[in-house]
Amino acid sequence: MKRTHHCNELRPAHIGQTATLCGWVHSRRDLGGLIFIDIRDREGRTQTVFDPSDLAPELFNRAASLRSESVIQITGQVRQRPAGTTNLKIATGEVEVGVKSLEVLNDAAVLPFPIDDPELAGKVNEELRLQYRFLDLRRPEMMRNLRLRSKVAMATRAYFDEQGFLEVETPTLFKSTPEGAREFLVPSRTSPGQFYALPQSPQQFKQILMVAGVERYYQMARCYRDEDLRADRQPEFTQIDLEMSFIEREDIYALIEGLLKRLWKIALDLDIPTPFPRFPFVEILNRFGIDKPDTRFGMELVDFTEEFRGSAFKAFGGTVADGGVVKALNAKGMASVTQGQLETMTEYAKSFGAKGLAYIKVEKGEWKSPIVKFFSAAEKEALTRKLAVEEGDLILFAANQWLAACEILGKIRLYCADLLKSQGKLKIPASQFNFLWVVDFPLLSFDKEMNRWYSSHHPFTAPVAEDVPWLLNDPKKVRGQHYDIVVNGVELGGGSIRIHQPDVQKMIFEQVLQIPPDMVQARFGYLLNAFRYGAPPHGGIALGFDRLVAILCHTPSIRDVIAFPKTAKGTDLMTQSPATVEAGQLRDLHLELKVTKKE
Ligand code: AMO
Ligand code: AMP
Repeated sequence: MKRTHHCNELRPAHIGQTATLCGWVHSRRDLGGLIFIDIRDREGRTQTVFDPSDLAPELFNRAASLRSESVIQITGQVRQRPAGTTNLKIATGEVEVGVKSLEVLNDAAVLPFPIDDPELAGKVNEELRLQYRFLDLRRPEMMRNLRLRSKVAMATRAYFDEQGFLEVETPTLFKSTPEGAREFLVPSRTSPGQFYALPQSPQQFKQILMVAGVERYYQMARCYRDEDLRADRQPEFTQIDLEMSFIEREDIYALIEGLLKRLWKIALDLDIPTPFPRFPFVEILNRFGIDKPDTRFGMELVDFTEEFRGSAFKAFGGTVADGGVVKALNAKGMASVTQGQLETMTEYAKSFGAKGLAYIKVEKGEWKSPIVKFFSAAEKEALTRKLAVEEGDLILFAANQWLAACEILGKIRLYCADLLKSQGKLKIPASQFNFLWVVDFPLLSFDKEMNRWYSSHHPFTAPVAEDVPWLLNDPKKVRGQHYDIVVNGVELGGGSIRIHQPDVQKMIFEQVLQIPPDMVQARFGYLLNAFRYGAPPHGGIALGFDRLVAILCHTPSIRDVIAFPKTAKGTDLMTQSPATVEAGQLRDLHLELKVTKKE
C-alpha cells in the first residue's frame, strides 16, 4: 500500500506519470458513462476518472456503488484535464488521474451530514457535529484549524526555547485550593476520604519552580475549571503558561509582544505593530465599560455626571446626588431603531442591573425622546458638544453607581455594534487586530454578600509598591501589578508580578483576605514555607491558547479549534461522558452516592 503522492500534489509537471493515491471519497459524479471521484486526504483533493473501457467491469461497478467517505486507493495515469474543465479553485485543478486500478480499503456507512459543504457549520446543529466529531474534523475547514493550532504551538515552543525557557510539566493531580473557579475533584483510592483536585492553572507550581531556580519556565498547560461554559470557555483548556525570575512588568510586555508578533506573522502573514498601547483599568472602564474592550470601533462612553448634577430629570439628578454617575454613548446612524428594538435593548440593559435605558433619537432635526422635555438648555448643549450629536444619531444613557453604569453601557455598546454589523453599517476588516494591555487593576474587589475583600486576579499578585501602605486601612486604593492582554474584545491572557516575601503573602491571606490562619496553613503552607528559603522576585503570565488559535482562525468559538470539545453542559457527546460508574469502582474509592436516579 504505497502511495506515491498526496491528494494535493499533482500538477501539470506530473502528466504522463503513474500515481497511487489514498484517501476518502469526497464526492462522486456519474456523467456520460464516466464516473468522476474526487479523492481527498489531509492535504487536499484530486479528481479521478473511471472509464469503463479502461477498467474491469466489476471495478467500474464497484466505483459506481462507492459511498461518500469510503476509503480507497487508486492507481492511474496523471493527465491534463480536457479543455474547459480546469478547476482553478483547487491546487490540483489542471490535472486528473485516469484510474487503472481501485482498491476499496474500507466502506463508509451513510453519513449523518454531508462533509463536503463548506457552509455546513451554519446548517447542521453543533451537537450532531460533536457526536460525529471524527467526520466533522475531516472537513477541510476543521482540518485547517487543527493544522494552524499545531503550527502555532510549534512556533510558540521555538520562541520560548530561543528565549532560554525550560519547558517543565507540572502535575494535573493537584490539591484543592478553593479560591478561584470551582474545581474538579478526584477521589483518592489509597487515602480514603481524601481528594486531589485538577489544577485551574499551574500557578503555584510555576512559582515553586522559580524558588527552585528554574528562572524561565513555560508550558503548554492543561487547565481545568468547573465553570459555566460559553463560546470562549471550556472546562478543560490549554494555556501558554510562563514564569520568570528577576524581572519587572516591562519584561513580560516585551516578551509577549515578541511572541504575538511572531505568531501573527507565521499564521496570517501580518506585521502587527509593537509595543501595544497600555491603558489603566479605570480609563478603560470609563471609555468602554468593560475590561476587555474592542477598540476597533468608537462609540465610546462619555461622562455627564457634572452636567446632570441637580438636573430637573430626577432619574439623573437623583443618581448623581446619591454619589452615582451619568454616562452616555452616541450610536451613530442608529436613530432608525424600532420601538421594539429599543425595548429589547432596555430589557438587556436591565438584565445587567440598569434601572432603565433613557434614549434620544435625532431625526429630522429633532430630538425625539420622552425625557428631553426635562433637560435644560445647558444640558442639551453639553450633550451636543461632547457627543458630537448629528442627524441620525441615537444617544443612550445609563445613570447608576460608577461601575454599574460603565458595565451597563459597555454591554449596550457591544449590542449596538452587533446590530450595526448585521445591518452592514459597521464594517471591520478581518485583518484588523487591536492589541492592548490593561494595567493598574485594583488588587482587591469587595464581595458585598460575603462582606470581605477578594483578589481581583489571584492572591499571589503583588501590590504596586507605592500603594502598599493602604493595604490594611484602604484596600480599594491598592493597585495590583497585574496586566491583561486584550485583542479585539477578547481577554487573551493575564498575569502579574508576584509576592515573593513570605510575610507579605501571609499578611495578604490572613489580614486582607481574612482567611483563618489554620486554613492558610492547610492550603498554602507549602508555598509560604518554600518562600522562606530564598524566593527570587518573579512574575509571569498565561495566554489562553484556545482563544489565541480561535482568533487566528477567525472563528468566534474555541470549540472550533479544540479537537474534542465539550458542550455548554460540559458533556462529550461522542464518548457520552460524564457517565455513571460501577458500584465496585465507587467502593474502591470509598464513595457512596446520594443521587439514585439520573437527574
Ligand atoms: P487566568 O485565570 O486569567 O490566569 O487565565 C489566563 C487565560 O486563560 C484563558 N482561560 C480560558 N480559556 C478557555 N476556557 C476557560 N474556561 C478559560 N479560563 C481562562 C483566558 C485567560 O486570559 N495563573 C494565572 C496566570 C498568571 O497569573 O500567570 C491564570 O490562570 O484567555
Ligand atoms: P422614568 O422617569 O422612570 O419614567 O424614566 C424615563 C426614561 O428614563 C425611561 O426611558 C427609562 O428607561 C429611563 N431611565 C430611568 N432610570 C434610568 C437610569 N438610571 N439610567 C438610564 N435611564 C433611565
